[in-house]
Amino acid sequence: MALTPLIAGNWKMFGSRAMASRFAEGLTPAALPTGPDLLICPPAALVGLVASLFAGRGVSVGGQDCHAKAEGAHTGDTSAALLADLGARYVIVGHSERRADHGETNATVRAKAMAALAAGLTPILCVGETLAERDAGQAITIVRSQLQDSLPDGATAGAVVIAYEPVWAIGTGRTPTVADIAEVHAALRAVVGDGVRILYGGSVKPGNAAEILAVANVNGALIGGASLAASDFLAIAAAAPTA
Ligand code: 13P
Repeated sequence: MALTPLIAGNWKMFGSRAMASRFAEGLTPAALPTGPDLLICPPAALVGLVASLFAGRGVSVGGQDCHAKAEGAHTGDTSAALLADLGARYVIVGHSERRADHGETNATVRAKAMAALAAGLTPILCVGETLAERDAGQAITIVRSQLQDSLPDGATAGAVVIAYEPVWAIGTGRTPTVADIAEVHAALRAVVGDGVRILYGGSVKPGNAAEILAVANVNGALIGGASLAASDFLAIAAAAPTA
């Protein structure tokens, strides 16, 4: 059974109310591809606004991170339940920028994924090797252990999404070869089995999307820079194979 591709945008720490409005205006029925599921993950402070701007426009909304606890005295953090209350359906956990900037370990990521599931959100669990790890021939070993150690207990097929994002391909304009992407995705597939979508992320653009999205076991994309404008995001979505 073919999985419906998921084309997800991660706005990171970019965006504003005005930018979200411009993006929503670009989501006309004529511009929306019918095949893939579409998702935008804006900064937490914009999730509620974006959820109302996108309502009925065919694009879901997600968070970029959540706390591992359901609630509590954690100044500045956002709970999965609040994201859900604001209209989010997904939340990214374990992005390499969170792992690097905030020292998140696989155990932290796993706890966050479990909190997301408990709040009814679909976690998008990110893994990816650094350039040094790839050069040392350790890419497969690293991403496999990241996935095994951060996958929540009892996650049923369809309840989680995996994203393979090689750290060295994020924001650099460099991408792995399709053979390298296929090799990593096959290794991740062996861990999660059929029924779980595995996205590729790292310098996905309108110009390379069709080639990447056609790779075996690539079930969509996680897009940073090229998700900031609706035109680029929709051009990538249009390149997704129909399930
Ligand atoms: P870029 O598409 O800007 O390389 O970012 C990828 C990414 O980190 C998405 O989460």
